[in-house]
Amino acid sequence: MWNRDDKDSEFSQMIEARLSRRRFLAGTAAVSAGAFLSLNPITKAFAAQQPSKLLNFEAVPASTADALIVPKGYKATPLLSWGDPIFPNAPEFDQSGKQDSQAQLSQFGDNTDGMSLFPISDNRAVIAVNNEYTNYEYLFDHGGNAMTKDDVLKAQAAHGVTVFEIVRSGSQWKLDKAGKRNRRITASTEMMLTGPAAGHDLMKTKLDPQGMKPLGTFNNCANGQTPWGTYLTCEENFNGYFGTSGSATVSDDHKRYGIVASKSSYQWHDTDERFDVAKHPNEPHRFGWVVEIDPNDPTSTPLKRTALGRFKHENAALLIDDSGHIVVYLGDDERGEHLYKFVSKNKYQPGNDAANRNLLEEGTLYVAKFDMDDEELKGSGQWVELTHGKNGLTKENGFNDQAEVMIFARRAATQVGATTMDRPEWVAVHPDNQHVFCTLTNNKNRGVKDNQPVGGPNPRKENHYGQIVRWVPSKGSHIGDTFEWDLYLIAGNPTVHKDNLYAGSENITADNMFNSPDGIGFDKAGRLWIQTDGNYSNKGDFAGQGNNQMLCGDSVTGEVRRFLTGPIACEITGLTFSADYKTMFVGVQHPGEKGAPSHFPDGGSSKPRSTIMAITREDGGVIGA
Ligand code: FEO
Ligand code: CA
Ligand code: CA
Repeated sequence: MWNRDDKDSEFSQMIEARLSRRRFLAGTAAVSAGAFLSLNPITKAFAAQQPSKLLNFEAVPASTADALIVPKGYKATPLLSWGDPIFPNAPEFDQSGKQDSQAQLSQFGDNTDGMSLFPISDNRAVIAVNNEYTNYEYLFDHGGNAMTKDDVLKAQAAHGVTVFEIVRSGSQWKLDKAGKRNRRITASTEMMLTGPAAGHDLMKTKLDPQGMKPLGTFNNCANGQTPWGTYLTCEENFNGYFGTSGSATVSDDHKRYGIVASKSSYQWHDTDERFDVAKHPNEPHRFGWVVEIDPNDPTSTPLKRTALGRFKHENAALLIDDSGHIVVYLGDDERGEHLYKFVSKNKYQPGNDAANRNLLEEGTLYVAKFDMDDEELKGSGQWVELTHGKNGLTKENGFNDQAEVMIFARRAATQVGATTMDRPEWVAVHPDNQHVFCTLTNNKNRGVKDNQPVGGPNPRKENHYGQIVRWVPSKGSHIGDTFEWDLYLIAGNPTVHKDNLYAGSENITADNMFNSPDGIGFDKAGRLWIQTDGNYSNKGDFAGQGNNQMLCGDSVTGEVRRFLTGPIACEITGLTFSADYKTMFVGVQHPGEKGAPSHFPDGGSSKPRSTIMAITREDGGVIGA
């Protein structure tokens, strides 16, 4: 493990490698794409340092089996599946799809996603986990074709966040149904708005004339965890829940977020008027935020942090900068959208969590502008401030105040000329050197739409494999407005494509290839865990890649090794560890989606269920070590 002093020396090695690359280019008349790739300074530097000392497990091969497969010497056990009761008197999961909304309210929600563990003692902890969305084909016996009012309530109860305590006996963690922190937060739990958009006219509705108390959170994708013990849940594709059966037109601002005035497939607006965008056009403004939750107080009100901007949030990667300010990196997961950074106004006070709890209420939001020299897979960039009155964010340009800059953060980002990205998903910060990594999962529109030119950190036209970009602040501090970036890896398929960028970077081989990196996170030792949510057809461009999976990367040597493979038609998403790093919790989301033949995890003829898996080593050691 490195200490903070290594930060500069490692980065200067990266810079040195870049300079070598420039020298090479200067003396070469024509460089083919293949030659370019093989000389990519990032992977060149990696290759010299292999093999990794950090990764100490046997790689697993790609798989199309309906199982979660872990390395030799490891075991994986289901911890909690959709529909499992989380309170003492809650009903058991029923395969029929006929359970009502009350049952779902007392059970684990559907489609497990980002999660964080908060230790209570050595053998007790609380986990907060997102329930991103639900699959009607499994939720209801009628598959969503005969929705009643209670069915809508049930679907709403399958969304949100689940908080539950776990206890360890021997080496195995189990749910404690009697845990006093156990809680369901759903699409109708009362919340509070904080920050610049709280109480703004655009947030006011018939039900909430003060514009302060939105109900619920949904499509909670990934997450963040604060040093003061709270959980951050990130609202992603909130647009899909709004619609109308009537006729209406929606504003351009609604369109930018994908809100349309037609029937929503979730059908909530049919029985819950709040979701009818024709009747309540401000309601969608109350979603698309990062929400802060205290997992230790089940009576606490979740706080929507509008200072972090409104977009389709993926996760919230938080660090304490050397300056004392809190910095949160944030991705907006949509083709051609942007990458953001929040810097708190006030400083972190070690040991004063009462004060730290307000740090996300006030601060400055920035958006990334990458240089676009498409001869290079590295460069510099700037963080452009999204503050009313600056950088053209003025009344004349359609922004009346700071609240509007936050509510329409996407439009503000366009106004300041932010770089359109290949779908920024999770961001992760290395625990020691604070290098930042972000998955750019894929983007079929790259090089096709005018506003999405090929180049910079988005180097491939019709990118269906994805890449991971990495950056460090140019002047050492994450509150500074410039950064240096390169690509940690470019996913691809070297067995299908030769001599071009679709084969992937040099650290991608026939043995570790995958597509669509999505969830990422570091463990304490600096292993970069990479989860995929991609094409699992195992055909054509994706031949040999199998089901979605999880890999582990060494951020110094660049080595990437496959750690597990998931069951049929799932994505792997959500990652947290016990305090001793001897148990890893991993989410298996939507096994068997769109009717694919999965019976994970119960087997037989059971319905597939989204599940949190607990992974341990048979010898009780630290995961990955
Ligand atoms: Fe919910 Fe961008 O994944
Ligand atoms: Ca995701
Ligand atoms: Ca994804």
